[in-house]
Amino acid sequence: MNRGKFYITTPIYYPSDNLHIGHAYTTVAADAMARFKKMTGFETRFLTGADEHGQKIERAAKARGETPQEFVDVIVAGIKNLWDKLEVDYDDFIRTTEERHKSVVSAVFQKLYDQGDIYKASYEGWYCTPCEAFWVESRLEDGSCPDCGRPAELLQEESYFFKMSKYAQRLLKHIEEHPEFIQPTSRRNEMVSFINSGLEDLCVTRTTFNWGIPVPFDAKHSIYVWVDALTNYISALGYGTADDSLFKKYWPADVHLMGKDIVRFHSIIWPMLLMALELELPKHVVGHGWILLESGKMSKSKGNVVDPSILVDKYGLDAIRYYLLREMTFGADGSYSEDALVERINKDLANDLGNLVSRSIAMAEKYFQGQLRAPGIPEGTDRGLIELAEQTPAAVEEFMDRVDPASALSAIWRLVGRANKYVDETAPWALAKDPAQNERLSTVMYNLAETLRFITIMTAPFMPLLPARVWPQLGIEAQPELCTWEALTWGRLPAGTVVKRGPALFPRIDINEKK
Ligand code: ME8
Ligand code: MG
Repeated sequence: MNRGKFYITTPIYYPSDNLHIGHAYTTVAADAMARFKKMTGFETRFLTGADEHGQKIERAAKARGETPQEFVDVIVAGIKNLWDKLEVDYDDFIRTTEERHKSVVSAVFQKLYDQGDIYKASYEGWYCTPCEAFWVESRLEDGSCPDCGRPAELLQEESYFFKMSKYAQRLLKHIEEHPEFIQPTSRRNEMVSFINSGLEDLCVTRTTFNWGIPVPFDAKHSIYVWVDALTNYISALGYGTADDSLFKKYWPADVHLMGKDIVRFHSIIWPMLLMALELELPKHVVGHGWILLESGKMSKSKGNVVDPSILVDKYGLDAIRYYLLREMTFGADGSYSEDALVERINKDLANDLGNLVSRSIAMAEKYFQGQLRAPGIPEGTDRGLIELAEQTPAAVEEFMDRVDPASALSAIWRLVGRANKYVDETAPWALAKDPAQNERLSTVMYNLAETLRFITIMTAPFMPLLPARVWPQLGIEAQPELCTWEALTWGRLPAGTVVKRGPALFPRIDINEKK
């Protein structure tokens, strides 16, 4: 089965500090997307990385008395550990300090200069270092950055400029003709009005710091960190190098996933750079909402950062991934609290899924020594369950194609709920008392086990450790061909399979003990 290629990226994060659950959310969502696409037959490439240049990093390193490279090396090692811990299965991790990246950025800059899209002029304007963003005075709010509210600094220097104005009309036309380019629609509308309010040429160099890629023909200037950073999506594929086979295969990106804070860079600056390079534009730029805390947006300076690594130790990997992916409604902001996390785990995982597995298997053991028998003719209630099971994979696929893991998970949990209701409706404990109902009881036990097989296959991209814990309980750990997306055909679970109770999948959590 080969359904084509799929290339998905996360932002490359600033290694100015350890990452928090906001970064973990984006990366885990991209990982679930990538796993889902792989599982459903796409040749998939998943890129993440670190954005290591710029004034923000230079200042942070200086504050610790380290060279920028020493400083980022430590943080990047921590980021990779975190992704391992969250079972983030990326295909490549690009660092902007790597030679393979720097050489592509220099070549891109040179090309744009040679063709007249970059020119030199004197610059006076405002700069927000935390965002590494330039602003014209009219966009400032009370002298501060309109994005983060922190003070902007006045810059006056000779700089190089990229002719953004030249590409504005073409970009607007592209956005108009490709309504799915920027998602969700609210983000798209923001971008259209931003472009319509007038785009100035973009200052693409700085002289006030050294920690960057030098302009190839004028080394006292460093290349603007966003031009450097955005190029990662093609440098990691070997664009413009002797071996550009990955680039040929995977570009354009199918999904650039990110938070809404940086959609502007990805849907304005990046497409214009690509147009200037005569490359195709990414298919989808998807901006999700922010994870907010009761105390507002997470930031190191506020001291309200939630460390995902600690949460994994406390609650388990699958539970944290489930929570993040289920709780954030597509495109909207979500709020994080440990109480809500525990409530989700107890309700959806311990009560709904965990109990369904344990009671289904316990009953099969009690009534049939665990051995499943061929189901009899389905009755109405069986048909309701089977139909929903058969419809759910397509629903999940449709939501994932919209980069909406929360809705995909809720579709799977509708099936979990339906199966629990099926137990109540069929009341196997009553059937077991009447020998004449033996075949009916066999049917119910089979249908429950088959539903569990469906549910487990579908949860795999979201909760990567779960399947290996369920398959032995369902007695099919030695039959991987029954555990793939393609095996989602009702009735493939063989009669005669022996199910076997295992440890509870998600024990209930007492929040008072954990805190
Ligand atoms: O912007 N909620 O890096 P960055 C949800 N280096 N997501 C959040 C979040 C929150 N509270 N906080 C951060 C940069 N994120 C640049 C990117 S790409 C070419 C260069 C996530 O370390 C979200 O994905 O500031 C956001 O867009 C990203 O982290 C910003 O990471
Ligand atoms: Mg940021």
